[in-house]
Amino acid sequence: MKTILIGLLALLGFSPFIAKKCFYHDQQSVTQILEARHSGNFFDPNKHVTANQIKSLIHAAQLTPSSYNEQPWNFIICDKSINSEAYDKVFNTLHQFNQNWAKNAQVLAVITASTNYSKNNHANTSAQYDTGAAALSMAIQATALGLMTHQIAGFDTEELTKLLNLPSDVIPLSVMAIGYEDLTRSTTRTKERKPITENFFQDSWGSINNYWQ
Ligand SMILES: Cc1cc2nc3c(=O)[nH]c(=O)nc-3n(C[C@H](O)[C@H](O)[C@H](O)COP(=O)(O)O)c2cc1C
Repeated sequence: MKTILIGLLALLGFSPFIAKKCFYHDQQSVTQILEARHSGNFFDPNKHVTANQIKSLIHAAQLTPSSYNEQPWNFIICDKSINSEAYDKVFNTLHQFNQNWAKNAQVLAVITASTNYSKNNHANTSAQYDTGAAALSMAIQATALGLMTHQIAGFDTEELTKLLNLPSDVIPLSVMAIGYEDLTRSTTRTKERKPITENFFQDSWGSINNYWQ
């Protein structure tokens, strides 16, 4: 029966894995991954990211929720070890400052958003929100696999759009550098975050929230 249902869902265009009922309650370990994720500046050029790891990152991004389930994101994955020419094209659009530290990342994933809904071509005002969420899913999964990600907004948008031949309603939002951190060069850093009261309110804009008092 389950197999028939999964088959039907697949025919309707749904991915079969949604049929899996899975509830995850280990909140502590999710928090640990979120705390461990960081955007370091030193990638290890000698440790190889495998195809299975990339598949796992893709799977994590694919599971992200989105407005009307539009899934407006695209990830163009450029793996230096597979196609260095494609990698270099993307790399060369990064601002010099970012090239300095990103050069040892094995993978650069260009993350784009389709700004119109596919069903009616109306503007999708949630496209960037949803794409950012998918990027974070990928980053969290990368951390869980022992990898490091560092996203980059500092690139030449026009050049990247041209090089990748992006459709007119598709905008590049971020390039995610992915690889192993070079642990011999990394330093321990505390996470710099604004005070809780600056971002988290209660009942009305600007109010003090009571949770942290
Ligand atoms: C969309 C996005 C764009 C970013 N662009 C850059 C960038 O161009 N250069 C850079 O060095 N870091 C960039 N970062 C990294 C942020 O500076 C970093 O996430 C922030 O300082 C918080 O540090 P953490 O990721 O280690 O928690 C970017 C991060 C995001 C999410």
